[in-house]
Amino acid sequence: MTSAQARHRDPTAGSTDLSERVAYELPHSTRIIEIRRETPLVKTFVFDTDIDAQPGQFIMLWIPGVDEKPMSIAGMRPLTISVARVGPATGALHAMNVGDYVGWRGPFGRPFRLETDRQALLVAGGYGSAPLFVLAQQALAHHMDVTVAIGARVADELLYAERFEQLGVKLLLSTNDGSRGVKGFVTDAINSAPNLQPGYANLTLYTCGPEPMLAALHQLCRAREWHGQLSVERYMKCGFGVCGQCALDDVLVCVDGPVLTLEQLDNKRDFGHYHRGPTGRRLEI
Ligand SMILES: Cc1cc2nc3c(=O)[nH]c(=O)nc-3n(C[C@H](O)[C@H](O)[C@H](O)COP(=O)(O)OP(=O)(O)OC[C@H]3O[C@@H](n4cnc5c(N)ncnc54)[C@H](O)[C@@H]3O)c2cc1C
Ligand code: FES
Repeated sequence: MTSAQARHRDPTAGSTDLSERVAYELPHSTRIIEIRRETPLVKTFVFDTDIDAQPGQFIMLWIPGVDEKPMSIAGMRPLTISVARVGPATGALHAMNVGDYVGWRGPFGRPFRLETDRQALLVAGGYGSAPLFVLAQQALAHHMDVTVAIGARVADELLYAERFEQLGVKLLLSTNDGSRGVKGFVTDAINSAPNLQPGYANLTLYTCGPEPMLAALHQLCRAREWHGQLSVERYMKCGFGVCGQCALDDVLVCVDGPVLTLEQLDNKRDFGHYHRGPTGRRLEI
């Protein structure tokens, strides 16, 4: 067994029932039953299937004839994802209609783990609102004190702001141009919030978004002595620990993550600086 295979954690590992392993490792086909336009760049897709998963886990979504890509789970019953149009695969998905078929495998990866005895601060950038929405629902079900901070360039890119508001969390918004919420970065919104001032240490920060934001939040957690769980992205091919494409230093993001702790990200050479493209070449973030 290779070291990659040894790290492959899936619910059917060790099973001698081939149909169980096939069900986990090969895509199932499903139909799109609803499409919602969320922002100029992001659409939400609802599928004709349910999934048993934890907040922060992801699926590998197969767009037939185009590619297969990791997508965070934004809803489980039915399976829901929110997708930004950035390239060929997401462009093809955005062009699909209700009734069209895709394939999916999963769920994969390590989820967020709620620390129910601490205040929760959920910080989203870009499509990071999607996995954090299911986490917020779970935290509220545990009667936790939940603040959600969302950052975007402009007001109409603030993903899920209204939906979080309806959930009843404390909401902090920031936009780079000041068109809604605090002007600046999401860290500026956090710094201006009375309930999140330095000295308040009984807090766990959960975050998903662009890596420069994650790197800034990692430093903020260290400075304020907060706990932190950060959902990190890397280019993925297999999604379950075999190909090695998603390496971040000595971590395989698809099986050791995508949710990593502050300690797992301390002193990582690539974190905040480099990722790997489809050929495995190291590229600046
Ligand atoms: C665990 C995980 C969960 C994800 N969840 C979502 C989600 O919920 N919604 C969503 O819209 N996207 C999500 N993504 C990102 C999505 O999988 C990629 O953006 C995907 O590559 C887009 O495919 P494409 O063919 O459209 O564009 P590509 O041609 O693959 O990429 C377009 C551009 O984005 C860059 N890029 C692609 N992937 C990454 C990456 N992982 N890190 C840094 N840069 C990258 C490429 O270098 C290129 O510049 C997730 C990624 C991971 C690893
Ligand atoms: S090892 Fe293949 S994507 Fe992580």
